[in-house]
Amino acid sequence: MSSQKKCLISVFAVACAAFLASTYLFGQGAAPSFSPLVNARGDIAFPPDFPNGFMHIGTVAVAGNGGVTDTHATYTRPSDAAYYRSHGTFPDGAVLIKDVQGVIGSPHTTGNAFWASEGKTWFLMIKDSVGRYPKNPLWGDGWGWAQYDPKDRSKQIAKDYKQDCIQCHVPAKATDWVYVYAYPGLGERVLKFTPAAARAATAKAAAVAAPAMSGNPAMVAAGKTAFEETCGSCHTVEAGKNNTGPSLFGVAGRKAGTEATYAYSSAMKDAVVVWSRETLPKFLADPKGFIPGNRMGRFFPGVDSAEKREALVSYLESLK
Ligand code: HEC
Ligand code: HEC
Repeated sequence: MSSQKKCLISVFAVACAAFLASTYLFGQGAAPSFSPLVNARGDIAFPPDFPNGFMHIGTVAVAGNGGVTDTHATYTRPSDAAYYRSHGTFPDGAVLIKDVQGVIGSPHTTGNAFWASEGKTWFLMIKDSVGRYPKNPLWGDGWGWAQYDPKDRSKQIAKDYKQDCIQCHVPAKATDWVYVYAYPGLGERVLKFTPAAARAATAKAAAVAAPAMSGNPAMVAAGKTAFEETCGSCHTVEAGKNNTGPSLFGVAGRKAGTEATYAYSSAMKDAVVVWSRETLPKFLADPKGFIPGNRMGRFFPGVDSAEKREALVSYLESLK
C-alpha cells in the first residue's frame, strides 16, 4: 500500500473515532460543547481517566480528634495551572477537582504521620466565562458545579449549586470562588490571598504547640528515663564532664562538635549541623547515616521509636 493511502486511512480512522466519541459524549445530533466533560444540556461528567491528565496543586488537611481525619487534594489540568500562573485567572473550560479522602495514621520515622487511604467523594468546578447554561441549576457565577457519588464516580449528585455549593465558597468570592491560596501549584501569586486570620491562627497554634512539645514535664521525664537507659553509659549531662562521648549539657542550639574539652572525630567537628528539634531526632534515628564517619555511629545503632526520640529531644532541650 502506498504511504499516501495509509495516511488517508489513518486520517479517516482518527476522524471516525472523534465522531463516535462525540456522539457518545454529547448525545445524537447535539452540537459538541466547549468542554469534553459537558454535554449540550450542561450535564457535567467526571473525567473518566482521572487522575491521568491532571496535576495536584495543593492539599488541605482537616483536623479532628487526635489528628488528621480527611485530606482534600485539589487537581487541575497542567494547561489550566500554567494559564493561572501567567494570567492570575482561570481560562474558560478550566477544571478543578477536589478529591476528598479519608485518612489513617501511625508513627513513621518522620513523626506522627497520616495519609489518605480511601476516596470519599469528588467535587468538580468547570469555568464558564460566557454563562452558557442560564437555566441549568448547576451553572452560575462563572462556573459549572458538580459532585460525584462516593461509590460511583460516573453519577453526578449535586442538584443546585446555590444550595449545595456556593454558600460555603463565599469566603473565596474575591478569588472567583476558589480557595486559591491553598494551592501552591498555581504559583506564588496565590499566597497574597492568604487571609490574615489564617496567618495569625497558625502563629498562635505554633506558639501553643511549641511549649507543649519541649517544655512538657511528662515528655522531659520520659526522656530522662530513656537517656539513663540508652545514653548514660557514654554521656553525662554535667557541664564539662565528658565520658566516651561529650557532655550533653547545653547541647540543644550548639553546633555539632563544639564541646570545648572533648576530642571529637573530624567527621563530627566538620559537620555543618546545629543540634535542634529538627536535627537531633535524625541523628538519634541513624547516628551513622546522619553524620557519616562520626564515632558514636560506630558504637550505637540508633533509637528506633519516634516517640522515644521525641522524649529524648525534650530532655536534651531541658539541659541548660
Ligand atoms: C461545607 C462547605 C462546602 C460545601 C458544601 C462545598 N464546598 Fe467546595 N470547598 C469548600 C472549601 C472550604 C474548599 C477549600 C478547600 C478545603 O478546605 O477543603 C472547597 C474547595 C472546593 C474545590 C477545589 C477548588 C476551590 O474552589 O478551592 C472544588 C472544585 C469545590 N470545592 C467544589 C464544590 C462544589 C461543586 C460543591 C457543591 C456540589 C462544593 N464545593 C460544596 C467548602 C465547601
Ligand atoms: C556507645 C557510646 C555512645 C552511646 C550509647 C551514645 N552516644 Fe552519643 N556520642 C558518642 C560519641 C563517641 C560521640 C562523639 C562522636 C564523634 O566525635 O564523632 C557522641 C556524640 C553525640 C552527640 C553530638 C554532641 C556534640 O557535642 O556535637 C549527641 C547529640 C549525642 N551523642 C547524643 C546521644 C544520645 C541522645 C544518646 C542516647 C540515645 C547517645 N548519644 C548514645 C557515644 C555514644
